[in-house]
Amino acid sequence: MKDFAGKIAVITGGGTGMGRELARQLVAEGCNVAMCDITADAMAETKRLCEVEKLPQGLRVTTHIADVSIEDQLKRFRDEIIEQQSTDRIHLLFNNAGIGGGGSLFTNTREQWERTFNICWGGVYLGVRTFLPLLVKADEGHIVNTSSVNGFWASVGLGVSHTAYSAAKFAVKGFTEALMNDLRLNAPHIKCSVVMPGHIGTSIVSNSRKIQSGNESERLSDNEILATRRRLEGMGIDTAPMSDEDIQQIAADRARSFRDEAPMTAAAAAKVILDGVKAERWRILVGDDAVKLDERVRLTPERAYTAEFLQSLVQEVGWRLG
Ligand SMILES: NC(=O)c1ccc[n+]([C@@H]2O[C@H](COP(=O)([O-])OP(=O)(O)OC[C@H]3O[C@@H](n4cnc5c(N)ncnc54)[C@H](O)[C@@H]3O)[C@@H](O)[C@H]2O)c1
Repeated sequence: MKDFAGKIAVITGGGTGMGRELARQLVAEGCNVAMCDITADAMAETKRLCEVEKLPQGLRVTTHIADVSIEDQLKRFRDEIIEQQSTDRIHLLFNNAGIGGGGSLFTNTREQWERTFNICWGGVYLGVRTFLPLLVKADEGHIVNTSSVNGFWASVGLGVSHTAYSAAKFAVKGFTEALMNDLRLNAPHIKCSVVMPGHIGTSIVSNSRKIQSGNESERLSDNEILATRRRLEGMGIDTAPMSDEDIQQIAADRARSFRDEAPMTAAAAAKVILDGVKAERWRILVGDDAVKLDERVRLTPERAYTAEFLQSLVQEVGWRLG
């Protein structure tokens, strides 16, 4: 797809981060956008940002509440698009919504594990199922599934359990790679890409915590303070001398530095993704860190989960892990 003008794009998780920036850049190119998220406020802000520049006559930006892990809500999202965008077809589907957390079979509950897995994997799978009939009706279509570097490397450092997110992101990558041929055989006018970002500066750390805990506040609950102590101890940090207020501060700093000290912004990431779609690249690595990690894992797969691999990776790409 060389040009987005006049097309209709569906974006999941359009409220913040890369979803928001995808929406802004698509609208700037004259593309209609329908986004979903689980809260209305963030989407209202994305819509406002999209509309800062005067929209071309008739261009539509619509917002819809839907949890991507629940099929009925995705179906309602689809039906609202058909009505509010006056269409029976879409051209672009960005399965972008995702959260982290819940990564241990020991220290997290099954519910937490499955929440991450069902959003990160289920959301992509159900998104494709729900919107495929509308893509089939378009003259050309493109599905963009967001995985991660954790779709080919199942770690964020040796001190953190990361099974739910990694399992989901590997699934997204495998599914999308196999989907290419299913589309080639059955709907050759539709292409697909898997997106694998490295560290991108977004609010995913605090958003994930809020969704996982059900605690909307910026401050950790007592249970979250305990869980944070456990995580830090897993990383070899003695938390006994730390007060609860110290733990609050560490968690807030971590979320802030993840967002503000990343090697790439969400806007730059969205541009890489959209350029990749235009170039019809099925494999979109986002960020130098993702490119380097991909090379390293391929070069020495047996060493990928050793301390030496991590140390030299951190030195080369400048990551702070955990
Ligand atoms: N930021 C990174 O470093 C990074 C790296 C690799 C992959 N990713 C992936 O990129 C995607 C976008 O992440 P981001 O960093 O922009 O995070 P973000 O938290 O800024 O944006 C994700 C959005 O998805 C929404 N969302 C969460 N659960 C949802 C659900 N069940 N239904 C609908 N919407 C939901 C959130 O409310 C949020 O608005 C995610 O899939 C994430 O896993 C991010």
